[in-house]
Parts: sequence; structure tokens; C-alpha cells
Amino acid sequence: MKSALPDSGDVLLYFSGGEKNTNKGKNLRWIALLLSLTAFMTAAALGAFLLFICTQVPQISSLQHEHRDPSPFACLPCVKLLRDPSDDISADLLLKQLDIRVTDGREDCCATSSEQITALLESVVRLNDSPQPVLPSYNVTNFNFSPVSAHKMLHAEILPHDFGIPEFPESPEVCELRDDDPRYGVEHHRGVNITRQGLKILHGGLYYIYASIQFRPQSRYPCKDFKYQTFAAYVEKRSYQSHGSQNILKVSHTCCDQCRNTQETRFTGGVFILHPGDVVGVKVVGYRLVQFHPATTYMGLAMLGAPESDSSVE
Ligand SMILES: *[C@@H]1O[C@H](CO)[C@@H](O)[C@H](O)[C@H]1NC(C)=O
Ligand SMILES: *[C@@H]1O[C@H](CO)[C@@H](O)[C@H](O)[C@H]1NC(C)=O
Repeated sequence: MKSALPDSGDVLLYFSGGEKNTNKGKNLRWIALLLSLTAFMTAAALGAFLLFICTQVPQISSLQHEHRDPSPFACLPCVKLLRDPSDDISADLLLKQLDIRVTDGREDCCATSSEQITALLESVVRLNDSPQPVLPSYNVTNFNFSPVSAHKMLHAEILPHDFGIPEFPESPEVCELRDDDPRYGVEHHRGVNITRQGLKILHGGLYYIYASIQFRPQSRYPCKDFKYQTFAAYVEKRSYQSHGSQNILKVSHTCCDQCRNTQETRFTGGVFILHPGDVVGVKVVGYRLVQFHPATTYMGLAMLGAPESDSSVE
């Protein structure tokens, strides 16, 4: 029984055998020739490829082998092997015997040979030889260069975040002082009280007073759209005795849309006599014109000297 669908062996016969002509045998021979030619070429190509792989692979792997460092017995970060981390690794008698390998910017000291393993172990052992020099570390309360000092970040009382065109208030706005923030190591106050409006003097004397302001409008509009382009900040002294107030220092900044260097800060400082009860604070012509960042916007003071009989607030 002949199946309607020819099996794979009959495919050629099926197609060429559709017409019963005298060229049937000739066609078959051609096809057979063509097939064997294709098979031969495929085999030759495969053979050539395999030959290529066989000859190349050993070369590649031996190349890699030559360039790859022998795997070390142990590696340790060099800085951990130095008694003083600021010492020069290449000048260290033990560490310079080791292989230095740099991984992600870190220098590792590696030992491969037995001599190097000895040097590595010696460098570990010597860490316990003598006690590390204990370097004193300080915080602001350890300094007593002056009986009175303060360094305070400035804050906006309220800071709307609409990023519209800043409004210029009728009178300058007082920057707030808050409790010392331990995240900023230099923020402190000694011998002086903090009020929201400024530093309240307890001991009369000669003071150096300073302030730094970074003007940087918190607005998505260019300065040319603002009512004013020049902004000012003042250090104000409110006197306890005379009940008056006075701007004792001033900085100003002109905003310019085409200019670079918008990161610049304005710094001012000076020496003044202050009396107990006086309050020293900073005012700006608009909170929205200032970048309130602890590194750039702050005030402080330090007493330079006091009269013999140190006066204080009654
Ligand atoms: C600062 O130093 C003083 C005196 O050594 C110490 O009492 C105080 O706890 C230290 N403060 C901080 C924040 O480390
Ligand atoms: C300063 O602050 C201390 C502690 O907060 C307070 O006891 C003292 O009365 C204040 N002195 C003045 C003059 O405000």
C-alpha cells in the first residue's frame, strides 16, 4: 500500500517524479551531485572551523595564563597593615616585599611566594608590637581660646515652597537661631544665650562678630522678573541699655541671570563692643532669596577680651 504522504526518502522522487519524462534519471543525478557537493562543503567548513579552534584555543589560554598573576595565598588591604595609615606603602620595609594589587581604587597587599607569606604575617604581627599613638580628638567644648564663642546656622522662620517670584517684605526678615544641631560639629554656643532672634550677650567685652550668607533665589523665575535685583543682609545689634537697634554689618548681592558663580557666598565680619543683654542677629531682605545651608549661611562670634572686672547680666 502506498501512502498518500511520501516518507522522507521519497521526497525527491515525489517532486521530480511528478512528470514522467526521460530526463528523470538525469535530474536525479544532478540533484544527488548538488547534495553531495553541499554536504562536502559543509563538512569542509566545519573541519576548517574545528581545526582553527583547536589551533587557537591553546594559544589563547596560554596567553591568558602568561598574563594572569598567580593566584595569591592571601591579600589584605595595605592600609590595614600600616601602623600609621598616613605612612607610604612603598617605603615600608615589609609591605614593599608584597605584590600590590589595586582593586576598585583600593591597594591590596598580596602574598604569593613563601617569602611574601612570611612578610605578610610579620606585618600583621607587628600591628600589636607597640601601642598605636593615641591622637587626641576634639569637639567644640574642648576649646577655650576665648571665654565666649558661638557659631550658629541660620534658619528661615517660614519658607514657602511655591518657587514663584519672591516677594520683598516691608522690612527685612530676621533669621532664626535654633538649638545646637549635633550633626554640624562646629555649631555651638558658650557663654552666650540663644534666642530665636539672635545671640544674647551675657558677658560684656570686645567681640569679633561674623556672618555668611549665600544668596540664591528659591524661584523658577529669572531675577529680571523680580522687583529688585540687589539683595542685602544685615547683622543687627539690639541694645539692652538704649532699647534701640542698629545695623552693624551689611552684605549685598546683585542677582544676574547671565552670570555664573551663583554659588558665591557673602561674608562679613568686624570687631565690636557688646554689653550684657545685647542681642546680635541677622536679617535678610527676603527668606526666599537665601540658600539656608549650614555650610554657607551662618553667623557667629568670639570674645576677644573683657575688662578686668567681667561684667555680666544682672
Ligand atoms: C566633648 O568633649 C567633652 C570633654 O572632653 C565631653 O565631656 C563631651 O561629651 C564631648 N562631646 C561630644 C559631643 O562628644
Ligand atoms: C540664659 O540661658 C540660661 C539657660 O537657658 C538661663 O537660665 C538664663 O536665665 C539666660 N540668661 C539670660 C540673660 O537670658
